[in-house]
Amino acid sequence: MSTISHTTPIGVNGIGRIGKLMAWALTHRAEQESIAISTGREVGAGIKDLAAYLEYDSTYGNYAKFYWGANPKKRVEIRDKTLYLNGVKVIWLNDPKYRVAGEIPWADHGVELVFDTTGKATDPTITEPKGLRGHLAHSKKVVLTAPFKIKNKGALMPDDAVTVVGGVNIHAYDPDKHAIISNASCTTNCCAPPIKALVDHFGDKLLSFAITTVHAATNSQSTLDTVPTAGSKDTRKNRSTFNNMIPTSTGAANAVLEVIPEIRTLGIGSQASSIRVPTNTGSIVVMDVSIMGEYDDAYMHGIMRSYSEKYPEVMRYSDESLVSADIIGSTHSTVYDAPFTHRRTSKRGSEYFTMFDLNFWYDNEYGYVCSLLRLYDHMTGRG
Ligand SMILES: NC(=O)c1ccc[n+]([C@@H]2O[C@H](COP(=O)([O-])OP(=O)(O)OC[C@H]3O[C@@H](n4cnc5c(N)ncnc54)[C@H](OP(=O)(O)O)[C@@H]3O)[C@@H](O)[C@H]2O)c1
Repeated sequence: MSTISHTTPIGVNGIGRIGKLMAWALTHRAEQESIAISTGREVGAGIKDLAAYLEYDSTYGNYAKFYWGANPKKRVEIRDKTLYLNGVKVIWLNDPKYRVAGEIPWADHGVELVFDTTGKATDPTITEPKGLRGHLAHSKKVVLTAPFKIKNKGALMPDDAVTVVGGVNIHAYDPDKHAIISNASCTTNCCAPPIKALVDHFGDKLLSFAITTVHAATNSQSTLDTVPTAGSKDTRKNRSTFNNMIPTSTGAANAVLEVIPEIRTLGIGSQASSIRVPTNTGSIVVMDVSIMGEYDDAYMHGIMRSYSEKYPEVMRYSDESLVSADIIGSTHSTVYDAPFTHRRTSKRGSEYFTMFDLNFWYDNEYGYVCSLLRLYDHMTGRG
């Protein structure tokens, strides 16, 4: 069986928001002696600037404080020109040729599993070294921290690729078969578990669901207005992040169909959209659901409570009055906001149906990284 050991060094390609926090989360647990990170380029004036970037964070404070509380001992150190996070050696791959995945010498550092967090290689069908599959030249498996995007519309999903979401279909991952694994998006990790709970509970009585994520800003947006690149499809992303609510598309509806195929077979309607807002992290999925029959809030709370008890690391049931800042640092993929549930039952002829407005919070950065960690635990047989 092609299982990866949880003590084997892990590779992280790209250290933007998700890659940096992945390096934090992996070294915090300190199970490996080393991890390898590829920036595919130099950073500032060298290793000191890399260390400072990894130590301090405008959203989460700093590495040591985030995990070990006030006045912690220093956990980011440079010894003999080598960087250590919490005593774990960080092998830094900065050669510009490593921007091509197939050129990164992962195996030389004992890496068997790579997390690709660049957002630049998302197509599992591409065989050129620069694509996601390129990592497999020097490692056994690669996890994409985003949904797959197949550019050639006629191409089929390769047999060795799979999309998994914790609390939904994580067991779809077959260690003997799958080498390229997508952990879907943060929004899919937030909305798929409660949708799975609803589909399992109501079956074809669930008529439809529509989700809107009110999503924090990401680096794919523009600080101030910028000129759209040639062929740009979503020019709203070129508008200033600071002072706008920016409607944009999300692949969440498609990804949910992929991980919960019953939605298609039962003929349940689905739709998703996204509005980017000027916060640094902390997002909410607003989910409108139509169900045949008459139900009250307590009935819905019961469904969500039992799902959160079944998957306590994935879903949290909250009866607090949360706002987005309260969710920063949350390790859950999804937090059900019970008090913000709204519902109305209507009658058409002799039939009743109930429309619910349900709300789920998520830390789109750290919460998502924790879902990657749970996937990693599953793949290494630790979780
Ligand atoms: N942010 C979120 O809330 C979130 C949540 C879930 C999933 N995701 C997904 O995770 C991925 C990363 O998102 P992010 O927010 O972390 O983006 P980000 O902050 O822009 O980070 C991406 C990093 O990858 C680096 N990079 C690009 N190409 C590279 C290459 N060939 N080799 C090495 N490094 C490379 C970039 O650095 P350079 O300056 O060198 O190009 C950048 O630092 C995206 O697919 C995104 O959709 C994001």
